[in-house]
Formats: sequence, structure tokens, C-alpha cells
Amino acid sequence: MKKLIAGNWKMNGTLSSAGDLARSLVGGLGKSSDLAEKLDFCVCPPFLHLEKVQGVLAAQGAVALGAQDCALTVNGAYTGDISAEMLLDIGCRYVILGHSERRQYHGETDEMVAAKAAKAHEKGLVAIICVGETEKERESSLAEEVVGGQIRKSLPASANAENTVIAYEPVWAIGTGKTPTAEDVKAMHAFIRGILKEKLDNPDAIRILYGGSVKPENAGVLLNIDNVDGALIGGASLKAEQFLAIAAAAAV
Ligand code: 13P
Repeated sequence: MKKLIAGNWKMNGTLSSAGDLARSLVGGLGKSSDLAEKLDFCVCPPFLHLEKVQGVLAAQGAVALGAQDCALTVNGAYTGDISAEMLLDIGCRYVILGHSERRQYHGETDEMVAAKAAKAHEKGLVAIICVGETEKERESSLAEEVVGGQIRKSLPASANAENTVIAYEPVWAIGTGKTPTAEDVKAMHAFIRGILKEKLDNPDAIRILYGGSVKPENAGVLLNIDNVDGALIGGASLKAEQFLAIAAAAAV
């Protein structure tokens, strides 16, 4: 399967810098057309920058647009929320759901993530569902139990290999410069594939991304581990040359 290289821009940038970053990505990919052929790409800017970035990406077509969250309800009296329908309308193909920062700072539960994913699926969006253990949980040998539980509960009945991507992001690796060993990543991704067999008809076809301090320096190792079908990149996705260097390491 084609690897997916996804950028999570989180709450960064301005309208103008988001446009510049998108232009640099599109320009860089234009110069290395084999990357665009070998890999799938997506970037997930803040809601307010989606339209601007879509305007840049649409002209070239190699990079899909994604959002960082959506509401668990349909349109209506939900002040401050953004629905899956609105994301589709603005040109999104993907939506990140259940990122650990949303679980931590917004109290999102597995059940809420499943409800959001169901709404995303209803509108034809691909849900990138994030799971991952904390450092304490890993040290207590609870990583598989935690991640297994999150997958069992965060995937709605509508999930399949086409409309869902799993992102394994150990919480302690996000923004810290720390990563699990290649053996630990391999073991966790194989474990996740096994859990997905309980939920899906074709578990081998679903993409399982790794996320957490992916950089050009470690991408060659992390992205060539069995069952690692791409990356969800935070900090390094804010620099076009780093994002593209990670992609180049994934494409070998
Ligand atoms: P970093 O790549 O900055 O560690 O962030 C990872 C992440 O949270 C992507 O969703």
C-alpha cells in the first residue's frame, strides 16, 4: 500500500504563513514528481487556514487537505463547533480525531472519538484516529492494554480500511524528541494490526501511521518498519524542507 505522509500543523502560523508553507510544499513536490507518485500526502492546518491552504493545494493536486478535529453532531446549535459537513464543503478529505492533545486538554473520550469518526464517515471523510500510551503507562507495561482499549472503543462500526487510518502516537514521544525503539514500534504496530482483525474485514489494508518526534534524521528507520504505513508529523511538518525530507526517507 502507498504510505501516507501527514502533517499536523496544530495551532501554529498565520493565514499568510500557512499559504507560504503550502506553496513551498507544492513547489518542492513539483520538483520531485516521483515522491508524489510513490506516496500519499495530507496536511492538516488550523480550521481558519483551511480555505487558504486548499486554494494553494487544489492547483497541484498531490497534497490532500485535512482538519484537526470535527464535531460529534450534525449542524445545529453547537456554538464554536465545526461539523464534518463543513470540512467536506471546504475541501477536506481527512480529519484527525482523538489526538492525545484533544484527549488531554478537551477531555475527549474514546466514545466521543467514535461518534466523531462516525460523523466523518457519514460525510465521506477519512478519519485519522489517534491512539497512544503515556510514559507512565509504558513504564508500567500497560502500553498494549491502553492502545488496544483505545482502538476497540474509538473505531465506530462504520470504520473500514478506506475511510479510516490509525495513528499510533505514544504521548511521551510527541514534541519531546524521544521516540520508541524500532523494536517497540514494530511490536506495537503488529499488535495494532492484530486488534484491527477483531474490528475489520480487511485489517491488512488499513494504514497504521507512526507519530511522535518524526524528523528527517529518524524517518529512514521509523518509516521502514513492518506495518508502519506512513507518519503523522507535528513540528517537522511546519518546515517544508523537513516534511519533504521525511517523505523522501519513506519513499526509498
Ligand atoms: P511531533 O512530530 O511534534 O512530535 O508531533 C507529533 C504529533 O502530535 C502529530 O500529530
